[in-house]
Amino acid sequence: MPKTKIFSGKEVSEAVYKNLQPRISRLKQQGITPGLAVILVGNDPASQVYVRSKGRKFNKLDLFSETIMLPVDIDEDSLISKIHELNNDNRFHGILVQLPLPKHLDSNKILFEVNPKKDVDGFHPVNIGKLALGEPQFIPCTPKGVMRIFDHYNIELSGKHVVVVGRSNIVGRPLSILTSLKTSYANATTTICHSGTPDIPKIAKQADVLIAAIGVPEMIDETYVKPGAIMIDVGINRVEDDSEKGYKLVGDVNFESVIGIATAITPVPGGVGPMTIAMRVENTVEAAELDL
Ligand code: GUN
Repeated sequence: MPKTKIFSGKEVSEAVYKNLQPRISRLKQQGITPGLAVILVGNDPASQVYVRSKGRKFNKLDLFSETIMLPVDIDEDSLISKIHELNNDNRFHGILVQLPLPKHLDSNKILFEVNPKKDVDGFHPVNIGKLALGEPQFIPCTPKGVMRIFDHYNIELSGKHVVVVGRSNIVGRPLSILTSLKTSYANATTTICHSGTPDIPKIAKQADVLIAAIGVPEMIDETYVKPGAIMIDVGINRVEDDSEKGYKLVGDVNFESVIGIATAITPVPGGVGPMTIAMRVENTVEAAELDL
């Protein structure tokens, strides 16, 4: 059975932070502390955990971050006013609206209100448009983190068949764009599968690089994988168990079932998750550098 390499997002993110240090120092010498505002509407427990871990990282690096907690029943106009206030607050170089938003709020309408120069999530239509045109400004953090894993482990995408399972605006869609761009770091032939795809295993089995971003716990097992494929597991799903916490985190890949089949895989936790946070820091530093 071939050995499956584990791609450590923790290791790659450490390298990112090391590379950011001189950029952060330069900004600080100019009196600029990169600052991020996180808007959290309601009290979804998974979002709260995610936002807290982001905050801790910013503190550790001596950067500025503030979480603005808003009530679950906030109306659209009040949320938009808050975003406008943050657009005009020069302590914040980045603004992030934590998704998903409660159902009564139209996410696209809300994200449109963030100043594209502060849109460190890369979700504003202007930034998505720039990405699609191959001239990205802010690249969404999880897709950017996945690309950085390829770079770190010298995975050449050019000429490869990448299959992305999942078409979300946060992960699958931007990854399908990024991997197929005509650039030195991409240039793959990309296929995107989703809930409307009749036979996902048939297509996934053709992938040299298989990216699971569908949000279904452990869905991708050995029946989806070509021997020797490289696998990226973007999923972070809570499933109940009888531990003290009452749940464990699993990916979209059935990890055990693909060991010995895939050439490499990212684990959950410790794979893509730390990269998303690292890219959020990097994008905030990039946004702060616009002030230099
Ligand atoms: N929810 C899950 N992932 C993300 C992300 O990358 N950005 C935001 N804003 N919300 C998320």
